[in-house]
Amino acid sequence: EFVIRVMGMLQQRSADAVNDNMASGTIELIAEDLEILSHAETPPFMVSEKSSEKMGLSVDEDLRLQYRYLDLRRSEMQRNIIGRSHIIKALRNTLDAAEFLDIETPMLTKSTPEGARDYLVPSRTHDGKFFALPQSPQLFKQLLMMSAFERYYQVVKCFRDEDLRSDRQPEFTQIDCEMAFVNQQEVLETFEELIKFLFKKILNTDFPKPFPVISYKDAIEKYGSDKPDIRFEMELSYLENLAKGKGFKVFDEAESIVAISVPGGAEYSRKKLDELTDWVKRPQIGARGLVYVKYNEDQTFKSSVDKFYDVSNLKEWAKKCGASPGDLLLILSGKKSDVQSQMNELRLLMGSRLGLRDPKVFKPVWVVDFPLLEKDEISNSFHAMHHPFTSPKTSDLAMLETNPENVRANAYDLAINGVEVGGGSIRIHDRKIQEKMFEILGFSKEEAEAQFGFLMSAFEYGAPPHGGIAFGFDRLCALFGGKDNIREFIAFPKNNQGRDVMIEAPSEIDQTQLDELEISLPKLKD
Ligand code: AMO
Repeated sequence: EFVIRVMGMLQQRSADAVNDNMASGTIELIAEDLEILSHAETPPFMVSEKSSEKMGLSVDEDLRLQYRYLDLRRSEMQRNIIGRSHIIKALRNTLDAAEFLDIETPMLTKSTPEGARDYLVPSRTHDGKFFALPQSPQLFKQLLMMSAFERYYQVVKCFRDEDLRSDRQPEFTQIDCEMAFVNQQEVLETFEELIKFLFKKILNTDFPKPFPVISYKDAIEKYGSDKPDIRFEMELSYLENLAKGKGFKVFDEAESIVAISVPGGAEYSRKKLDELTDWVKRPQIGARGLVYVKYNEDQTFKSSVDKFYDVSNLKEWAKKCGASPGDLLLILSGKKSDVQSQMNELRLLMGSRLGLRDPKVFKPVWVVDFPLLEKDEISNSFHAMHHPFTSPKTSDLAMLETNPENVRANAYDLAINGVEVGGGSIRIHDRKIQEKMFEILGFSKEEAEAQFGFLMSAFEYGAPPHGGIAFGFDRLCALFGGKDNIREFIAFPKNNQGRDVMIEAPSEIDQTQLDELEISLPKLKD
């Protein structure tokens, strides 16, 4: 890792000295003068090409992040970061060519509800007041439409204080877009073209057919997820009508009984099935147990519920699940929405185990017709499923008063290989509907006016219909790179606890700074 300057003559290596495994393996530099520009300590992990390939992810990630400047030297990280730069360039060129204007929006702003907590910045000059860092530029991009900029985009940092995962960072980058005078179909077509173009340019991958479209309801019913991985089938089947009333209490008392058929799974040993049962019972998944039915090659059945069901019952189940001899049925039961999301996790696990989730195969799907609202059973209140500025479907408008839970939104997500890479909607551009929306979300008239009065007053000066979408750029890069972890595609990410372990942020600040801001902190216990 020393940095040196060498003067000399380059010479072709003789044929027997050529090393095909080295980038410079065909030449030799005959040094005449050598100067050390910078010495290097022994790095905390190997950086050179060969050893870093071997190293893979075996080095503790926090150590890599602590010495990120060295980690970024590794060839794999160089590829990731260079790839990211190429993708952004291709994106900008395409959006520029389609006459989208790149317009910046403020970072010191006010809360934009996108469902997470805000990062707050205290104001020194305005006592007791705070800015919020944007969770997205949502309101500004809408206001730009009202300012007659018909097509906007921005490569923009967004900040969300939420539980972290491998595909979530507290600050992340969106390709944020908005268009005036469009309907949902036009938005989907415009951005489908953009995504197709990117795949062609970056990976030389073609999608000859339009991306499939699935409704939210169907996605949940078939896959248990609103971002289904459709690289493989293994769809959910519902067995309530077949499995209830035979004396098996767990099923009899369950709202829903959901099965998947795992191709070739009948060979699973008892030990493997026990492991799977433990896996679904982990708190992250939360199932109470797992029922299995082996549909053996010789057409016999073996199940964990043989006491309650005979062969003809199990045969019916297998038929309902589209299973063939040699397959394994895995069955979960309980509250419908819980079982669906547990089954989604199990389906993805089995898909991975069977090698059906090839990172080089890409299966995009538009998910549409999301519900406008989500009911919080505990507080009996409504949340916006996307955000409060999403428009209801015109045909469902009347239900806003009578049956808000069933109102569908003009909202859409793009999922690729089980990753939500983008989401957006057609917006409300009418003051009355926006007021109604705030009312349903539990805002008083005064609260709505205080927080969003500027938006509603903008609606009164001629607001074009508008809509848009935002893509998670870090997720797109990870997808193109065939990885799950977006940290691998961000030069200086936070670790999985939301800390920058290189510069050590967040950190304590000076008493003088605190005094200037008139902030006093309670004494923290060690
Ligand atoms: P949404 O909240 O769906 O929509 O965000 C858009 C996309 O951003 C990505 N994303 C994230 N990526 C990394 N880390 C995170 N913490 C994170 N959160 C979201 C996802 C997601 O699909 N204003 C709306 C867009 C609109 O309506 O136009 C919005 O922000 O890929």
